Amino acid sequence: MKFLFIIQLIIIYCKKFAQNSDLRVVCYYTNWSLYREAMPTLYPDHIDPLLCTHIHFAFADINPLTLAITPTEDHDIHWTDRLGMPLYLRMYGLKRRNPSLKIILSVGGWSARSKGFNAVLRSDNNRAKFINQTIAFLQEWQFDGLDLDWEFPGSRDRGASADSKIKFNILIHELRQTFEDDAIRINKTNRLLLTAAVAADPKKIEQGYIIEEFCNSLDYVSVMTYDYHGKWDSVTGINSPLYRSHTEVENHEEWKNTNSSIYYWINQGCAASKINLGLALYGRSFTLASTQNTSIGASIVDGGGEPGPYTKEEGILAYFEICQKLRAHNWTTEWDEGSQSQFAYSDTGQWVGYDSLRSATLKVIWSKTMGLGGAMLWTLDYDDYTGLFCNRGEFPFTRRVHETMFDSILTTSTISTTNQSHTTTTPIRTSNSSIYPKLNRTNKPNFVLVVAPSHRTKMVSDSRMVNHAGDHLKYKFFLLFFLSVFHFFK
Ligand SMILES: *[C@@H]1O[C@H](CO)[C@@H](O)[C@H](O)[C@H]1NC(C)=O
Ligand SMILES: *[C@@H]1O[C@H](CO)[C@@H](O)[C@H](O)[C@H]1NC(C)=O
Ligand SMILES: *[C@@H]1O[C@H](CO)[C@@H](O)[C@H](O)[C@H]1NC(C)=O
Ligand SMILES: *[C@@H]1O[C@H](CO)[C@@H](O)[C@H](O)[C@H]1NC(C)=O
Ligand SMILES: *[C@@H]1O[C@H](CO)[C@@H](O)[C@H](O)[C@H]1NC(C)=O
Ligand SMILES: *[C@@H]1O[C@H](CO)[C@@H](O)[C@H](O)[C@H]1NC(C)=O
Ligand SMILES: *[C@@H]1O[C@H](CO)[C@@H](O)[C@H](O)[C@H]1NC(C)=O
Ligand SMILES: *[C@@H]1O[C@H](CO)[C@@H](O)[C@H](O)[C@H]1NC(C)=O
Ligand SMILES: *[C@@H]1O[C@H](CO)[C@@H](O)[C@H](O)[C@H]1NC(C)=O
Repeated sequence: MKFLFIIQLIIIYCKKFAQNSDLRVVCYYTNWSLYREAMPTLYPDHIDPLLCTHIHFAFADINPLTLAITPTEDHDIHWTDRLGMPLYLRMYGLKRRNPSLKIILSVGGWSARSKGFNAVLRSDNNRAKFINQTIAFLQEWQFDGLDLDWEFPGSRDRGASADSKIKFNILIHELRQTFEDDAIRINKTNRLLLTAAVAADPKKIEQGYIIEEFCNSLDYVSVMTYDYHGKWDSVTGINSPLYRSHTEVENHEEWKNTNSSIYYWINQGCAASKINLGLALYGRSFTLASTQNTSIGASIVDGGGEPGPYTKEEGILAYFEICQKLRAHNWTTEWDEGSQSQFAYSDTGQWVGYDSLRSATLKVIWSKTMGLGGAMLWTLDYDDYTGLFCNRGEFPFTRRVHETMFDSILTTSTISTTNQSHTTTTPIRTSNSSIYPKLNRTNKPNFVLVVAPSHRTKMVSDSRMVNHAGDHLKYKFFLLFFLSVFHFFK
């Protein structure tokens, strides 16, 4: 009996692990780092292919005249002097080190608005033409699927046609059907995947998707659970809070958190296992009206925070830039219990609400308790891909998400031994960015596809690790252990 009980427990845990293997870490990759100054470029082949289960190459456009998918960059598909091998092929090369990695082409994006999608939806013929050309293009470049990033179907203010909700649904049905037929036709076991990035705002969701059918036809949807607060607001707020902050008072703000958006998708009929939780590897920043009030909901000066030294966009700081602010510029960090989120500010009145490793870990654990299918990260090139800014190795954010998603037991045991006194990071003395490597723009890239095995750092050694999450898992772990021992000796 005792043995049986223990074996049962082991089976339960093995099942848990087996289920875990279906979870997803979906990572977006954009070309944006190619144009950052004084910063090495993140080439596709520099991505650690073991950190993501899916990589979405963002973005390609839809040409409204030819209805064909068109790369946005010459060097996506052409050999060029500066970048050598086409970026699509350099991305494909990652499969040598992780054959189960899926690489998916993403079309649309915020700046593409709705023109291409509108054109595709205009008639049955147009849809057929688009689908036909899309399959050919995906196969030519050996993508594993298509990701639709329409921001947003049904949003008239973003140029979407009035009937786009119904027609988008038809397009998705047809795409899915054609992908299935195509797999049978060419006798392939792996059908092309069909996915989408979707809105977090109930109003936009209502306008844009026939939710249940939409989720059923797609392999997964990534909810963009961020951009809840930013420079368009009149007070400070967190880019991607898990819960509602206590300092948020107005009623109409109630939906502006991850918890409520994900519940909305599920309550409207989307299977939880189809949903990826969106994680932002950037913060949204503000300039405080007064350095005296640094709380969430504090007054700000119009126009967002100062641009980051690398990403150079007002009101936005990449995760690696935030690391630099914390370590090199001695920003103060604070944790907001209510929304379970992190913010930081300087003594000069700059303020940013962002996802730290702590809040990201909490969210991933939360997503697992909700039974979601995975997480989506926007984007890899906002992570500290050089490892020089956060001093935690390369891709610290993505690595933490992956570890939390897949190794909860291991993570647990490490969390329990974590010593709080390691919390403080030593600030870098230099207050300028010259300590970071400069990009030699005339340099020919290095064509080696298989990069050296990246130094996977030891299991979680981050002491700012969530006590919360840790305690929860620790509890389960010890309960299991205790029960086993108890039943064994009974
Ligand atoms: C990079 O990709 C975006 C789409 O994400 C595209 O609009 C842009 O033209 C590309 N090139 C540059 C130089 O940013
Ligand atoms: C696309 O259309 C061409 C010409 O009509 C046809 O030969 C081809 O089989 C179609 N491809 C797919 C994937 O349907
Ligand atoms: C499809 O693949 C299977 C296994 O690889 C093979 O036995 C079968 O003959 C193939 N059928 C066609 C139509 O190519
Ligand atoms: C999360 O959202 C659900 C549904 O809106 C709500 O019932 C629940 O109270 C929320 N949780 C927290 C902690 O706010
Ligand atoms: C800061 O601003 C918030 C929101 O307006 C307010 O509730 C709080 O009392 C202010 N704190 C201080 C110290 O002024
Ligand atoms: C960093 O800020 C803290 C207070 O927030 C201050 O005590 C400390 O001296 C500062 N360190 C440096 C190196 O400026
Ligand atoms: C943490 O480390 C410090 C110094 O390394 C030590 O003094 C302290 O006892 C440790 N705390 C725990 C809980 O292990
Ligand atoms: C940045 O630091 C370098 C050396 O560390 C120094 O030569 C340079 O003058 C500094 N630049 C600024 C703007 O402080
Ligand atoms: C940049 O690379 C070229 C070619 O490898 C080299 O000749 C040049 O000295 C480099 N410039 C700098 C500033 O490192």
